Amino acid sequence: MKILGIESTCDETGVGVVEDGKAVLLNLVSSSVNLYKQYGGVVPEIAAREQLQAIIPLLDAAEDIVDFNLLDGFAVSYGPGLVGSLLIGVETAKILSIVYNKSLYAVNHLLGHVFANWLKPQRTPDFPLISLVVSGGHTDLLFMKSATDYKWLGGTRDDAAGEAFDKVGKLLGLGYPGGPEVERISKEYDASLRFKLPRPMIQEPNFDFSFSGLKTAVVNVVGEVRNNRSRICAIAHEFQHAVVDVLVSKTLTAAKTFGVRSIVVSGGVSANSMLRGKMIDEGEKNNFIVHFPDKKLSTDNGAMIACAAFYNRMKVDPLKLYANPSLHF
Ligand code: KG4
Ligand code: ZN
Repeated sequence: MKILGIESTCDETGVGVVEDGKAVLLNLVSSSVNLYKQYGGVVPEIAAREQLQAIIPLLDAAEDIVDFNLLDGFAVSYGPGLVGSLLIGVETAKILSIVYNKSLYAVNHLLGHVFANWLKPQRTPDFPLISLVVSGGHTDLLFMKSATDYKWLGGTRDDAAGEAFDKVGKLLGLGYPGGPEVERISKEYDASLRFKLPRPMIQEPNFDFSFSGLKTAVVNVVGEVRNNRSRICAIAHEFQHAVVDVLVSKTLTAAKTFGVRSIVVSGGVSANSMLRGKMIDEGEKNNFIVHFPDKKLSTDNGAMIACAAFYNRMKVDPLKLYANPSLHF
């Protein structure tokens, strides 16, 4: 079964075709991220205009590779996200399904991230599992019995993990998006320069997160060392370490509480090497099987949407699908 997935929730436009929920036949992504460097964050109006510019050329390029008449359906992430960006993908997918007379599948963008882990056919996760979604807009823990039966356990009460990386990147005078930049300069850190930052909510008996206090703690230490490169690297490293400690601790507690064997991590922050290393080490020490998507499939793309549609099968009437910016699990 071949599904074409469209992703347009924020600043990436993605078109991907996936066969039987595992083989990526194509995955084209156009990103407008470089346009926001001067603003330090996505500008929704610009992102929507860029989605509009990108979607048709990407579909044209996809049609050169895959005959749309041979597809079994179209899928689209219909939320959560920025309303202007979402509209472009949702309306395009509706029209395609009508013109080609194919099924249309609606996909929660966050489930799309989760199913990026099924695009590694040699090692796919087994249910039941605990899923951690860490992106620019979300930090969520899920208990999943199957692709269609899942329970939200908790999430961030303020900033998402990726958002905290982006804000701290800005505070440290790094480029946007902050996540990859914080990771890059953390590698230069000098272990003799010690900064201790808090691990918010790590001991609390729930599955919620809070990262805005950690950002404030960075504001307090950064004021003293603004022009000192090696100290900036040390702060970046300690900040990253604090976020990773909280994410790993809460995820392992959830896995133990729900008695699962598999842990599945996804979303843009799952590209972070320290998170990957620590979750895998600690998980394996506790006999869990830990899954991360390929790094290039961690950030927004169309293949993950096509894959989620294959497993989740939420078939909808194209005339009744609407973008839902505040969609939750
Ligand atoms: O999933 P994604 O592409 O978009 C959303 O759905 O939000 O995630 C983007 C987020 C940004 O906040 C970015 O800073 C973060 O993922 N990110 C990282 C890394 N790569 C991307 N955060 C930490 N370390 C990274 N290597
Ligand atoms: Zn995303």
